[in-house]
Amino acid sequence: MTELSASILSADLLNLERDIGTAIRSGVNWVHLDVMDGHFVPNLTMGIPFGDAIKKKFGVNIESHMMVDNPDMYLDKYCSFSKLVTIHYEAPVQTSRVLKEIERRGSMPGLSINPKTSVSSIEALLPAVKYVLVMTVEPGFSGQSMIEEAAQKIPLLAEYRKTMKLDFLIGVDGGIKKDNISRIAALGPDIIVSASAIFSGNIEENVKSLESCMRENGNGQRNH
Ligand code: DX5
Ligand code: ZN
Repeated sequence: MTELSASILSADLLNLERDIGTAIRSGVNWVHLDVMDGHFVPNLTMGIPFGDAIKKKFGVNIESHMMVDNPDMYLDKYCSFSKLVTIHYEAPVQTSRVLKEIERRGSMPGLSINPKTSVSSIEALLPAVKYVLVMTVEPGFSGQSMIEEAAQKIPLLAEYRKTMKLDFLIGVDGGIKKDNISRIAALGPDIIVSASAIFSGNIEENVKSLESCMRENGNGQRNH
């Protein structure tokens, strides 16, 4: 069944505890931590102290989305509080080595691809990952419009998963809102990440309506 993951990039930073608590009480099982270094992407965000504090307070599943040039720096720390650590295929590092480093530290290794990166370019890395995160916006900011074509990589990845007899999760991140989540869920992702659609306005109502749109017409069931 597809799960919702709350990207706290759009949460009220001065009321982070309240906002994350509300999202979790409303049924969200994952917190998505967008880590940006001001170089891989043109924005700077949160890092280790945020992840540590969230894990200690809520014990929730954390996925760290590393939009940084050096995702292997501080891996011990990120792996200590993250169930999933996702690095970018486009980062200037040897991704296969970093994926192994993540797994060795006990977190699930994830690989994210930007909208312009094809699924075929990561084919050789698929046996080494437990998660593929499909970006449906250029990484850097929340609140952008979804690039619809990029979402077609979700069923394509599900095909690869089946053909290659692998078992990674598929996530999708960027521009997901009430008006497109049903369509995206129908493509079969395991995790749908959302920031602005969860944290703008009434968080509880947002989570409930995103969840219900996600399950419309029986969507949100993993089909493979
Ligand atoms: C973008 C981040 C996303 C972002 C999603 O670089 O990776 O996780 O927070 O924001 P929305 O859901 O508002 O597009
Ligand atoms: Zn993200």
